[in-house]
Amino acid sequence: MAKHRIARVEEIPAGERKLVEVEGKSIGVFNVRGEYHALENVCCHRGGPVCEGNLFGRLESEVMPDKRTREYYATEGDVIACPWHGWEYEIPSGECLADRTYKLRKFPVVVEEGALRVVL
Ligand code: FES
Repeated sequence: MAKHRIARVEEIPAGERKLVEVEGKSIGVFNVRGEYHALENVCCHRGGPVCEGNLFGRLESEVMPDKRTREYYATEGDVIACPWHGWEYEIPSGECLADRTYKLRKFPVVVEEGALRVVL
């Protein structure tokens, strides 16, 4: 395993991402509330460029005392939707929200002297 420098910390502020190529792999590096996550840019469905999709939060709902349903975003910026067919993944775990047995490949990210390095 080797560490590959992919960016300076300030290049990926909270809520942003950077796509990089490391050892022939396309990888999306995300900053979710100050934590970095690296996911292989290959969707579990049909191999689409999942890391290029839209970012949003996890939508949840609750039944109100008057029996109406209220929907709200329980999180912000930690879910990505594949641009090809919309499969949604939780970035910190890499898990598909509809079926958590599907999981994007993750790589460790370390911060050293202001630089982000992906380990693979
Ligand atoms: S390839 Fe990603 S949802 Fe189909």
